[in-house]
Amino acid sequence: MSDTQEKNLDYEAEGGSVVDVHDAVRREKILPPTGQEPVSFSPIIATIIVIILGAGYFGAYGNFFRDDIYISSFYQPEPRPAGIGGDEGGDKGPWIDQWLAGGKRVYGQCAACHQPNGGGLPGQYPPLTGSEWVHGGTERLGAILLHGIQGPLTVAGQSYGTIPMPPWNALSDEQIAQVITYVRSEFGEMKDDPKAIVTTEMIGAARDKFSGKAGSWTESELLDIPADAMLPGAEVDPQTGQPVGGGEDAAAQ
Ligand code: HEC
Repeated sequence: MSDTQEKNLDYEAEGGSVVDVHDAVRREKILPPTGQEPVSFSPIIATIIVIILGAGYFGAYGNFFRDDIYISSFYQPEPRPAGIGGDEGGDKGPWIDQWLAGGKRVYGQCAACHQPNGGGLPGQYPPLTGSEWVHGGTERLGAILLHGIQGPLTVAGQSYGTIPMPPWNALSDEQIAQVITYVRSEFGEMKDDPKAIVTTEMIGAARDKFSGKAGSWTESELLDIPADAMLPGAEVDPQTGQPVGGGEDAAAQ
């Protein structure tokens, strides 16, 4: 009790009234609940500037997400492995279509010289269309792709050789097999001919066979390979990619 009395006395002694003391409290602003405090001006201005600049940039250069720009026409999803997630071959179509699509993708690297239509450029790059090197046996093609050519080389009656054909041995066996299949089918007029198909196994065999070859081929070395020599390996069924008649192991994929 004496405590309270003392306090009251202090307060009387300072001369303040109850109202005076509470005035000070009333002047204070009531704090908003945490998280709802007003934001200061500068971050708002900064945000507005960022939005205006961003929208302006998008408007100028964004092309409004036009799908012909944002979706690359070269994009090709990897084929899903057969047998996983459903029926084999179901929506994927025949094996040969995927094999040729893969070959077409690799051919993108050849097209700068041999041209997208396989026609070549007169005097510089020989044509693949109508070329005796393309629609003959596969052994010469395997040899050419793995080690390249140092001209002169006669193709469809014209001589080439100012520019050498580079070796493509950094491509995988599968890529080389696919691009040869594509070139034979598209430009060698062997569409739907099972002899057009070259498998990974066949390119593996070619790599072994020509592993001792140093440098690029000359025309006479290539002519030593019989025109109709085929790379060893099982022929495959264009629908399934599985070997037909007697091939023991899966030739591809
Ligand atoms: C840098 C240009 C260039 C690129 C890229 C190129 N080649 Fe060639 N290719 C040539 C030249 C040049 C010759 C002729 C070589 C010579 O006469 O020495 C040739 C020859 C050939 C030949 C034999 C001649 C014929 O026309 O049938 C084949 C087949 C061939 N190339 C396939 C390909 C394939 C497949 C690719 C892609 C993997 C490819 N080339 C990429 C330049 C190129």
